[in-house]
Amino acid sequence: MASHAIEIRNLYKIFGARGADHVEAVRAGMSKTELNATHNHVLGLKDINISMPAGGVMVVMGLSGSGKSTLIRHINRLIEPTSGEVLYDGVDICRMSELDLREFRRHKTAMVFQKFALLPHRTILENTCYGLEIQGVPGMERRRRAMEWIERVGLSGFENRYPNQLSGGMQQRVGLARALTNDAEILLMDEAYSALDPLIRVDMQTVLLDLQKELKKTVVFITHDLDEALRLGDKIAILRDGEVIQQGSGQDIVQYPADAYIAAFVKEVNRGRVLRVETVMTPLSGPVEGPAIPAGTVLEAAARDLSSAGASVAHVVDPAGLPLGRLDLHALVGAMVTESTEAREAAA
Ligand SMILES: Nc1ncnc2c1ncn2[C@@H]1O[C@H](COP(=O)(O)OP(=O)(O)O)[C@@H](O)[C@H]1O
Ligand SMILES: [Mg+2]
Repeated sequence: MASHAIEIRNLYKIFGARGADHVEAVRAGMSKTELNATHNHVLGLKDINISMPAGGVMVVMGLSGSGKSTLIRHINRLIEPTSGEVLYDGVDICRMSELDLREFRRHKTAMVFQKFALLPHRTILENTCYGLEIQGVPGMERRRRAMEWIERVGLSGFENRYPNQLSGGMQQRVGLARALTNDAEILLMDEAYSALDPLIRVDMQTVLLDLQKELKKTVVFITHDLDEALRLGDKIAILRDGEVIQQGSGQDIVQYPADAYIAAFVKEVNRGRVLRVETVMTPLSGPVEGPAIPAGTVLEAAARDLSSAGASVAHVVDPAGLPLGRLDLHALVGAMVTESTEAREAAA
């Protein structure tokens, strides 16, 4: 297994003049409302523990005010923790010297913002190579590198335009190209796609997923949208009132929501397009039957394959074609239309 690039441990953030004085009370169970009412301090984050996979997409999801931005800003230390650690390759970012921190921010991290944050009087090309300019990379070199990424995000021919000549979706492509040009290992995306129209947003998700297949950056992606989380996240953590209430794979969360709150979100999910055949298959017994369905196929697509093959049983295969399990049409359709028992119990 890959090592974990970013480890958040026992992280607390309490906003206010004497935040540290209240960590014990919060640890002992004082709620966000109570802390606010009795001490006039705001609970930002409570005892966050998350291992963010190296080379994978970590999604942090939650409603507005749940602490998502507070959490992501700890990773490049735009916010100082009240207590706890943020480890990158075993080094606590919160304890780095000024110099190390500057190096870390400049070379290891890049941010993509919701409002694009493009410089209006600079062309797309000049915006894209801005980070390299700050790093002191010579002009020719930085133009070459920036052009490469402008092309990769589908903006060839637009490099000499200005931001206001581009649509929102295209401006967000520039934001992504600019972040990638920095060649940082960690991409921090705080609601980067939340302001985009739904179709453009799905396009941008595809751009990120396609690039990610090859780049394998450590991406921390914040969203308040479960569909987006499920599409992008190798791992998802759900925040509420500054606390992680569930973390795991999208498959896990959809199948086994930890409480009624999450179950309510999950109810709206199109299970047939999210759940994969591995979650429904049963162990092989006897000979393999029916068509071969590649692991990773979503239930809806598998149902289509079975139906067009006129089969009621199929087998799931790994990329090498080896059978992994048995797929039964009834179980498959059942999982598409009903929540699991665990989910119903959680919702009850
Ligand atoms: N600088 C600050 N001072 C006081 N409270 C803050 C500050 N920044 C954020 N908060 C509070 O912390 C909580 C989490 O905010 P935030 O991380 O911005 O949530 P999200 O990004 O999920 O919308 C909210 O209650 C917010 O009002
Ligand atoms: Mg936010």
